[in-house]
Amino acid sequence: MKKIAYRSLLNTAILTLILLFVNPSAKAQDNAKLVASFPDNINKIVSASCTPCHIDKGGTMAKSKLNFTAWEKYSPEKQKEKAKQMYAELDKGKMPPKAAREKRPDLIPTTEQIEIIKKWSETYSANK
Ligand code: HEC
Repeated sequence: MKKIAYRSLLNTAILTLILLFVNPSAKAQDNAKLVASFPDNINKIVSASCTPCHIDKGGTMAKSKLNFTAWEKYSPEKQKEKAKQMYAELDKGKMPPKAAREKRPDLIPTTEQIEIIKKWSETYSANK
């Protein structure tokens, strides 16, 4: 009897420890919320492949065309247009730009990720 009680106490302790440590890092959470109104999967792709350039701290040229930090301030029409442009650039293999693709191949989205952006951009409507 005593042995069983001890066991379950130990199991609870181990489970608690696991839950404490499995918590995702703060950095990953920040990235996941890059654009508050984007679904998580879109935020993930954009954070991994586009944020080095298309954010307030990014490149001047890049952010003048598309700035995820300012996305929520875009008009609904502009958001729709930018969502379409995002897929158009990926479909043509134009983003990230060639130089970046060569230096940082890890930035290149996968075919599945491009497909996710495609579906999202086709059904994109602001303020949902
Ligand atoms: C290494 C920097 C860099 C990365 C990473 C990058 N871009 Fe860009 N992007 C640019 C620059 C610079 C421009 C402006 C010049 C141009 O249009 O080529 C641009 C322009 C754009 C435009 C506007 C195109 C137009 O014709 O007006 C879109 C849309 C875009 N990027 C989407 C993306 C998406 C989506 C990603 C992520 C998958 C991404 N970019 C990743 C640098 C980057």
